[in-house]
Amino acid sequence: MTTGNFEKRILCIGAGYVGGPTMAMIAAKCPQYEVTIVDINEARIKAWQTDNLPIYEPGLLEVVKQARNKNLFFSTDIDNNIKKADIIFVSVNTPTKTYGEGEGKAADLQFWEKTARNILKVSESDKIIVEKSTLPVRTAHAMERILDANANGLKFEVISNPEFLAEGSAIQDMENPDRILIGSHETESGLKARQAIVDIYANWVPRERIITSNLWSAELSKLVANAFLAQRISSINSISALCEVTEANVAEVARAIGTDSRIGPKFLNASVGFGGSCFKKDILNLVYICEHYGLHEVARYWESVVSMNEYQEQRFVTNMIKVMFNTVAEKRIALFGFAFKANTGDTRESPAIHVTKNLIAECAQVAITDPKALDNAKLDLKDIAGNIEFTENVYEAAQGAHAIAILTEWDEYKTLDYEKIFQSMEKPAFIFDGRNILDHDRLYKIGFNVFTIGAPPRKHF
Ligand code: NAD
Ligand code: UGA
Repeated sequence: MTTGNFEKRILCIGAGYVGGPTMAMIAAKCPQYEVTIVDINEARIKAWQTDNLPIYEPGLLEVVKQARNKNLFFSTDIDNNIKKADIIFVSVNTPTKTYGEGEGKAADLQFWEKTARNILKVSESDKIIVEKSTLPVRTAHAMERILDANANGLKFEVISNPEFLAEGSAIQDMENPDRILIGSHETESGLKARQAIVDIYANWVPRERIITSNLWSAELSKLVANAFLAQRISSINSISALCEVTEANVAEVARAIGTDSRIGPKFLNASVGFGGSCFKKDILNLVYICEHYGLHEVARYWESVVSMNEYQEQRFVTNMIKVMFNTVAEKRIALFGFAFKANTGDTRESPAIHVTKNLIAECAQVAITDPKALDNAKLDLKDIAGNIEFTENVYEAAQGAHAIAILTEWDEYKTLDYEKIFQSMEKPAFIFDGRNILDHDRLYKIGFNVFTIGAPPRKHF
């Protein structure tokens, strides 16, 4: 391929939470490569070309600006860019299927397959195709069957390079990853293509952190990593329920077990539940794959991680209603945070959606505040008829409220003037800390009735 002044042309199809940040990082770290990101979503592509990026991620704008219009480009011209590319990362969405066979569990691969067919249709030269999206194990096999159906003798080598970044810390995660995983066929051409992808990351990632494996291990490892992470949260959340009735404190239990180096301290924060676009989707996908292979016990085991999360979300909102004298009708309730975690505007599968819907069903008046996620919150709740108010001002949200629920662990919620907030609320005033981030003793002394995850409540009545 001709590559102009650049050593290689890299294309990424899909300019979302993964495609945008990962390719911006590659472009910033590898000025010798030309990196282009394409998407069918014109508005998204336009936004990537401005300083008002389509996603909020700390530090992302700086990385984008470092490379944009030098060796990083955004475009909606998918076909021409496929033609020019040497390496194509595919980072389209792979949501849970909402129809047909596997509905509610299997991954919907329609966007994926469309890109494969398009690559096949317009390509005029050999290419390396990199699975960046999270996919069911053995998807590369299906992809190869589509790509090998070309009549002009082109060779497409499929590589799996799943992404492990977490939203809110994507830049750090990519700058200094625990590992990069690259899977390929262990044939001569497979190993050559694998090396081409290793060479990209080796520009900034120490070689010992670049793990290589066969294709199927790489595909499956991504689903398993998310399943294990989510399992830890469901495990500690299950124990939080037991703590609440036994006067144990889940934070103390987490600390006690987390100091065992075999268990480790991370990912043991009990919460209102895990959200995000991937944990539930990827576990359900794993469950579906196990069922497909007749491994029903394995499927049930992983499915329980998702049911425990649903239990935790429901338990939180049921408890709110119960302790507020079994009715929230006409009561103003302030939700602090709507994003599924701090430092992102993403609200996909956020527990806040579930909590809001339940409160509205109980005829509460809900005031939602969040520093970054209000636009997405409005979209999530657009079909819900009820009394919902959105404000960036936390004090305004709490004004006249009977209760506050902390649903996202934004740092700024830790240092608010809770005396002022207490004065402005109806009494008795309740606070439900769904993220265990506040100083509960202090809140109790101010006069709040404090309910936390995994510890007995502090009540004035
Ligand atoms: P996203 O929805 O933010 O982005 C996907 C993009 O692909 C969208 O902009 C969509 O318009 C585009 N697209 C769909 N079909 C297309 C086509 N035929 N041609 C061109 N563009 C097309 O999704 P995301 O969060 O970036 O996730 C992408 C993949 O990465 C998923 O498989 C997900 O599981 C995985 N993943 C996500 C994260 C995360 O933090 N969000 C982390 C690791 C892995
Ligand atoms: C997660 C994984 O951490 C990434 O490695 C993976 O690449 C990504 O999914 C993906 O495949 O999409 P993400 O969902 O962005 O990343 O964020 P996490 O930090 O994992 O948090 C997920 C959810 O768990 C959030 O709602 C968070 O608040 C919750 N959580 C996390 C807890 O409730 N307790 C914890 O101790 C940690």
